[in-house]
Amino acid sequence: MKNRTHRCGDLRKEHVGQTVTVCGWVDTKRDRGGVAFILLRDVAGKVQLTFSEETDPALLAQTKEARGEFVLSATGKVCAREEGNRTQTMATGDIEIVVEKFEILNTAVTPAIEVRDDLKCDPELRLKHRFIDLRRRPMQAMLQARAKLVSMARATLEAEGFLDVETPVLYKRTPEGARDFIVPSRAHRGQFYALPQSPQLFKQLCMISGLDRYFQIARCFRDEDKRADRQPEFTQIDIEMSFPTVDDVIELFEKVVTNIFEGIRKDERFKDQSWPVLSAGDVKPPFERMTYEQAMRDYSIDRPDLRSRDLKLTELNEWSAGCSFNAFKGTAEKKGLIKGLRCPGMAEAFSTGQLKNLERDAKGMGATGLANLKVTEAGLEGGIAKFIPEPEQKAMIEAFGAKPGDLLLICAHEKHKIVHAVMHNMRVLIAEKLGLSDPSNFAICWVVDFPLFEYREEDEKLFASHHPFTLPQNVKRVQELAEISRAGKEPHPVARMLRGGVEIEEIIALRNNQYDLVVNGIEIAGGSIRMHRNDMQADVFELIGIGKEESEKKFGFLMSALAHGAPPHGGIASGVDRLLMLLLGLDNIADVIAFPKSASGRDLMIDTPNDVEPALLKELGIQSVPKP
Ligand code: AMO
Repeated sequence: MKNRTHRCGDLRKEHVGQTVTVCGWVDTKRDRGGVAFILLRDVAGKVQLTFSEETDPALLAQTKEARGEFVLSATGKVCAREEGNRTQTMATGDIEIVVEKFEILNTAVTPAIEVRDDLKCDPELRLKHRFIDLRRRPMQAMLQARAKLVSMARATLEAEGFLDVETPVLYKRTPEGARDFIVPSRAHRGQFYALPQSPQLFKQLCMISGLDRYFQIARCFRDEDKRADRQPEFTQIDIEMSFPTVDDVIELFEKVVTNIFEGIRKDERFKDQSWPVLSAGDVKPPFERMTYEQAMRDYSIDRPDLRSRDLKLTELNEWSAGCSFNAFKGTAEKKGLIKGLRCPGMAEAFSTGQLKNLERDAKGMGATGLANLKVTEAGLEGGIAKFIPEPEQKAMIEAFGAKPGDLLLICAHEKHKIVHAVMHNMRVLIAEKLGLSDPSNFAICWVVDFPLFEYREEDEKLFASHHPFTLPQNVKRVQELAEISRAGKEPHPVARMLRGGVEIEEIIALRNNQYDLVVNGIEIAGGSIRMHRNDMQADVFELIGIGKEESEKKFGFLMSALAHGAPPHGGIASGVDRLLMLLLGLDNIADVIAFPKSASGRDLMIDTPNDVEPALLKELGIQSVPKP
C-alpha cells in the first residue's frame, strides 16, 4: 500500500530501525511536557507514537490539535523502548515509533460511546452508534470469528462436493412457523412477495433439479416475538443433499461443527480473547443422540442443557394417583402431569421468601403453584408435607432417589405444557445455582424422533412440528389418516379423524425424521429428511388443514416439482448467529451481528422501520392506517 507501510498492531522488535508509515485512530493521547505519546489504533492493534521537543518541537506542538478518534497518518522510525517503559499487555509494547512526520487525515467529534474494550453502557446506545461500537477490539474480533466460522463451514462443504447456490430473497408466504415480512409489488399492484423464513423449498427444488448437494450462507427473515437468541434477520448455514440417510446428514454436519471449533481455536488472531471456545476441550463426533421423548421426560424441554445432565426431572403421576394430597391426585386423575426436581443438598439454599418468589415465577407461567419440600432424616418437611402420610412420603423420596438435605420442587397441572415450562425453568435456575452452567463446557447432543405434529387444543388444529415438508416415520399410517380425513365432513381434519375412530393420542404419538443439534440448551441447527413424493406431501398437507385446492394455490410449484421425479432428499440448517454466540460466551445474539436490530426490532442507527412518502404508497396501492 502506498499510504502506509505497516498496520499499527503488527509492529514488533524485528522492525526496530525501519522507517514506517502507519495510519489509524487516536486511541489515547498523553502530554508529558516536552514529550507526547499517542496510541494509534487500527484493525491489527495499537502502537505508541512518540513526539519529543528534542527531535522536533514544531511536530510536538502540532500534536495539540489531535484528539481522540482523529484519523492520523504518521511516519517515523521504529525504536526499542527502554527496559522500564515496555508495556507487557500490548503486542507492540516493546517498541515505539519516533515520529518524523504526521498528518491529520480527518477530525472527529467526541463519540457518544467510548472506544474501549471493557465498555459498559446502555446496549441501545451501542446500537445507535454501532459504527463506533465496532471500532472496539472485542467487536472486531467477533466479526473476525464470524467470518472464520463461515469460511470453515464453506471450506468443509465445498470439500464434500456441495455447491453454493443463491436463492431468491423476494419469495412467497409459506408456513414455517413464524410471521412473514412482506414486500409490496409495484408492478403487480395489491400483490406481495414475502421474505424467506429460510430457503427451505428452494433447496428442495435444487435437489429436484439434480444438483445433488447444495449449500448457502443464507439470510433468513422471521417476524417473531423477540428473545435473547432471536433476530428478525439472521443467517443460516443451509444444507441439502440427495439420497441421504439421517446418519449421512448428521455425520456431515458434525464435520462442519468440528471444523468450525478447530478453525477458531487454532486462529492466532484470537489468542488474546477469553472466549469459551478457546478454553474448551476438543469437540469430538459422534455427538450423543437423545430422543425427543427422553428429552421431555428427563428435562421437560426438547433442547436440554446437558451440562447439568444429572439434574433430571422425576415424573410423579404414578405416585400421585395413589396419594392423599388431593391437588396432585386430582391432576393425575385428569391425565395432567406432575413433575418434580430434586435439588441435591439444597434444602437450605433458599429462604422462605426466595421459595415464594420461585412459586410466583411458576404462577407467572400459568402454574397453580410450586410445592417445595425439604428431605430430612425423618421424612419430608415444609409446605404440603403435612398432607402426605409417612409411607407416601417414603415412596416419594424413593421415586426421586432423594437424600436428607435435598430440596424437592414439584409442579402439577392439567396442561402438560405448563408443567414442562415451569420445570424446565426451575432446572435452568438450579443448574445455574449449582455452578453447572459453565459456558466453556460444551454439551452437544442431537435430539431425534420428534413428534410429526403439534396439537393445539385451543383450535383443535395440527401443526407440523418442524415444517410440513418433513418425512413422517410411518408414511403408511399418515396416508391412512389422510384418507380418513378426506372422507369426513367436519370442518377440521382432527375432528374428521376423531369421528373416523382415530385417537388423538395416536396422532400425537406419530414421529418424523427430524434432527436438532442442541448445544448447552440452545438449538443451533435443525433439519430433516423430506417428503419426495407428492402424494405423501398431499397427505401431510391434508392433516394440517391444507386441502387440495389450497395446496395447489400455495404450493403448486412444489407439488408439480415433486411429481417430476424428485429424488429422496434431506438437509439441515444451522443458525450462524446462535452458534457464534455460544462459542464466544455471549448472552445476546445482537452481540454477534455487525448491524443487528434492537430488542424492539428497530435498527437504531439508521432509524428504521420508518415512514415512506405517501406518493410511494399510492403507487403501491397501499394505505397506511396510523396506530390509534
Ligand atoms: P429452523 O427453523 O429449525 O429450520 O432453523 C434452523 C436454525 O436457524 C436458527 N434460527 C434462528 N437464529 C436466530 N434468530 C432466529 N429468529 C432464528 N430462527 C431460527 C436456529 C435454528 O436451529 N428450513 C429449516 C431447516 C431444514 O429443515 O433444513 C429451518 O429453517 O439455530
